[in-house]
Amino acid sequence: MTHQVGTADAGTDSVAWARALDEDDLWEGELTSLTLEGDSVLLVRLPDDNIRAYQGMCPHQEIELVDGEYDQDDFVLICPGHSWEFDLRDGAGVNPSNCRLFSFPTKVEDGVIYVGIPQDGQRHYNRGASD
Ligand code: FES
Repeated sequence: MTHQVGTADAGTDSVAWARALDEDDLWEGELTSLTLEGDSVLLVRLPDDNIRAYQGMCPHQEIELVDGEYDQDDFVLICPGHSWEFDLRDGAGVNPSNCRLFSFPTKVEDGVIYVGIPQDGQRHYNRGASD
């Protein structure tokens, strides 16, 4: 049984589904980071079994976002580096607002979380702010 494909920058047509971890190992409000096919990936479980996957390193100076402070009430993650803030419902920058985390598609199949890694030969990482 498969459920939940998160919104993502990459569609689901040209991705390889990488096994991330068992669904039971990621509780609601919990963050974890993994390296999948060379990409650093941040996973978060939102309410209602929504699982999101984003680039694992901050767009500012590549510090691990998993070490940030996450507020489950407003879904905002604060980077431990210099306090940039991101909405983990969609990866949008909150402060500054002109940046966005790269988002990977996710799915759960037979109790296992998979992340879709685009097979385009690129590094999946949005750098810096847009202006
Ligand atoms: S490294 Fe994340 S805000 Fe600077």
